[in-house]
Amino acid sequence: MSKKVLVLPGDGIGPEIIAEAVKVLNLANEKYNLDLELVEGELGGAAIDKHGVPLADSTLALAREVDAVLLGAVGGPKWDTIEKSIRPERGLLKIRSELGLFANLRPAILYPQLADASSLKPEVVSGLDILIVRELTGGIYFGTPRDQVVLENGERKAFDTLPYSESEIRRIARVGFDMAMVRNKKLCSVDKANVLASSQLWREVVEEVAKDYPEVELSHMYVDNAAMQLVRAPKQFDVVVTDNMFGDILSDEASMLTGSIGMLPSASLDSNNKGMYEPCHGSAPDIAGKGLANPLATILSVSMMLRYSFSQAGAADAIEQAVSDVLDQGLRTGDIMSEGMRKVGTAEMGDAVVAALQQL
Ligand code: NAI
Ligand code: MG
Repeated sequence: MSKKVLVLPGDGIGPEIIAEAVKVLNLANEKYNLDLELVEGELGGAAIDKHGVPLADSTLALAREVDAVLLGAVGGPKWDTIEKSIRPERGLLKIRSELGLFANLRPAILYPQLADASSLKPEVVSGLDILIVRELTGGIYFGTPRDQVVLENGERKAFDTLPYSESEIRRIARVGFDMAMVRNKKLCSVDKANVLASSQLWREVVEEVAKDYPEVELSHMYVDNAAMQLVRAPKQFDVVVTDNMFGDILSDEASMLTGSIGMLPSASLDSNNKGMYEPCHGSAPDIAGKGLANPLATILSVSMMLRYSFSQAGAADAIEQAVSDVLDQGLRTGDIMSEGMRKVGTAEMGDAVVAALQQL
């Protein structure tokens, strides 16, 4: 039986970059006999315009039914004045939590062809290839009580709660170790165990899980040191596993080591490797509708989808190779443009990846 992919283009540059990623996915589908069936839906502003809410029940039902979701990006000035509870971003948070996508994988890879795009010295970042595994559905962004401001001693006071249960830590730790096993058998767990009880438990549970992975070299690091080490000597890391808020911050920091947000894909997985795949960037309203957006982050998200949700490592590798080939050809969208290279638009870049993939 064919497997289903739900495609959610979203807003801004979303539809433009998704169009290119779908071209690549369609070719891979044919070339590698993947037997994938694509269905399309709305999320974010596009869904507000059509259904009045950022994630319609019918779309959520479809998302539950399919094997993977491919998302562009959501949001934009058109919906900025809408009431908070039905803003485009709420649709994104809702689909992540409703699907139980607790494991967020964010690779930060510096392509050798783009070495001059990083703000760090070439010797510090050349060859950089790290994977941040961020817990995505627990911790301080979801803990209760929250979302309230109270009056205490005549002044306003706000609080958030940072809970982690043993099972939440264990399942994300397993993802970290599993990723380490298929990479370089090196895992760094990042916490704040010198201060936080949730982090003390985090460290304890990670140590327990480590017993099942004797081949993996495990280290622990406090988050403040990790933030420092990431810019001092990022290549000391291979796989990093951390909680929701630390992972939010560290993965943004790591992504910038590579110099361009237009190159960075992501995967968010549940416990059965069902996943949602999307570029790390947003809907870029400043360049939307102009054919300027870099589609490579979304195309690389397709590669992650084939790797993690469909176990098609060969097809996934081929897409990554095709991306590398077009960079070798000197093609660059504006965000990664440098001297002597050939500037291209969104569709031309997508077509070049399709042509390169065809030749592999
Ligand atoms: P953004 O990532 O959309 O844009 C930041 C800067 O990077 C802009 O200058 C943009 O032109 C550039 N950029 C982003 N993607 C690019 C690409 N593929 N090619 C070339 N340049 C690219 O972040 P910003 O401006 O903070 O947010 C814009 C909208 O996107 C907001 O409504 C925000 O809420 C939403 N957003 C959505 C996300 C999602 O859907 N996952 C994530 C982040 C923001
Ligand atoms: Mg963030």
